[in-house]
Amino acid sequence: MTKKTNPWSRREFLSTSAAAALGAASLPLWSPGIFASRAQGDILRVALVGTGIRGSSTWGRTLIQRYADVLEMVGLCDSNPKRLAYAKQYMGAACPTFTDFDRMIRETQPQVVIVTTTDCFHAKYICRAMELGCDVITEKPMATDEEMCQAILDTERRTGRKVTVSFNYRYSPEAVKIKETLMSGEIGQVTSVDFNYYLDVFHGASYFRRWHGFKQFSGSLLVHKATHHYDLMNWWLSAEPLEVNAHGALRKYGHNGTIRSQRCMTCPHKDSCEFFWDITTNEHLMNLYVKAESEDNYLRDACVFRKKINIWDTMNVQVKYHNRVTMSYSLNAFMPYEGYSVGFNGTKGRLDARVYHQTPWEIPALAEFRVTRNFGSSRTSNISAGGGGHWGADGIMQDQIFRDMLPDSLARRAGSRQGALSILIGIAARRSIEQGRPFKIDELVKL
Ligand SMILES: NC(=O)c1ccc[n+]([C@@H]2O[C@H](COP(=O)([O-])OP(=O)(O)OC[C@H]3O[C@@H](n4cnc5c(N)ncnc54)[C@H](O)[C@@H]3O)[C@@H](O)[C@H]2O)c1
Repeated sequence: MTKKTNPWSRREFLSTSAAAALGAASLPLWSPGIFASRAQGDILRVALVGTGIRGSSTWGRTLIQRYADVLEMVGLCDSNPKRLAYAKQYMGAACPTFTDFDRMIRETQPQVVIVTTTDCFHAKYICRAMELGCDVITEKPMATDEEMCQAILDTERRTGRKVTVSFNYRYSPEAVKIKETLMSGEIGQVTSVDFNYYLDVFHGASYFRRWHGFKQFSGSLLVHKATHHYDLMNWWLSAEPLEVNAHGALRKYGHNGTIRSQRCMTCPHKDSCEFFWDITTNEHLMNLYVKAESEDNYLRDACVFRKKINIWDTMNVQVKYHNRVTMSYSLNAFMPYEGYSVGFNGTKGRLDARVYHQTPWEIPALAEFRVTRNFGSSRTSNISAGGGGHWGADGIMQDQIFRDMLPDSLARRAGSRQGALSILIGIAARRSIEQGRPFKIDELVKL
């Protein structure tokens, strides 16, 4: 993807963040919620940067429709003016739009900025928003490399503003059930974990059609996608990672293809390619992406077999935690079905969970659980998760963030430390693959 109008270069970002860097006081273990000090009845002034599919839907239209009693969308920003104009209309927003972030903040005076841009630009906007006096809610991954991660931690410390990371997977029913089972002590102390995640040939392939297929934009799936999984594991175990070793390969997409084109829409292999995807049948995506292509050449239906794709689709990672737990994790991106299987080995038994995520998200997920006590029998159960964005998780998370009314007994609210610890496993895994050695987390960032 080549960008004509990108206001933030990486060099510019690094020079700003280096200037902002400060020494190390330790961060709180979890964020108390960025609106804790908000007076009852106050309407929160919210601005959003990144009006793509996630920004315009979950953090745009949904907020405007469901949270008008607690917040007002005061400004929208995106580097692509055509996408921005369509997104504003789609959201039903009444606020002004901007391609200049600083100008948006100056003119609309938001209290909170929501960051939903392409991953590699999150850190720049998170830091800038805090510099300009705003709290931040950011989509995952909080950042895509170690320097950006450090800059966020340092800027938060220096400005006293707060970052919330929207880890919606913590709110899905099966994730909660796993957490509660581990907390009950039924399998004793966890000693090791087997965690295998499967992305299917539809959802998995979608990452190879877009900017996600390039490390420079997404940090690879080890960061972009696996940040969810590492965050879940850190939260499930109440543990912090120390060391990471990884292997990765590109075995299906990218250079492996025997046929290729620039994009599906104009592809001569439409009838023979298994991965052909027809964006023209979706009016919303045509408006959001295809009609805005003239501004930044962002092709939403680019070929999954582009030779330049430089991320992995086959990944294995070992993680050592501070409490001596070890985890074996794998991520495969061209599977026939989607979901995960996780097994916790404990001193008194084992917890197995097998989760099938059917797409589209509105179809309930299915999860099977087995708790087996050593020298005892197995207890099995099933749950069928609710509908709505990401199995109902998006809505519960937003209620907790914006209405601040749910007790946080499971410590699901996530701040910059949780954001950092999850991406750092992925960044360390990426460095480990690139350099062929294990990486310690504290080689990357000073927490
Ligand atoms: N938590 C979840 O489950 C979940 C689900 C989907 C997406 N996401 C996250 O949401 C974010 C957006 O994903 P998406 O699928 O909407 O992507 P997208 O490509 O549809 O949208 C990204 C938007 O950012 C804009 N943009 C790019 N560079 C910019 C810059 N420098 N300044 C301003 N705007 C810029 C693009 O023009 C585009 O409109 C990603 O970080 C992704 O990881 C999270």
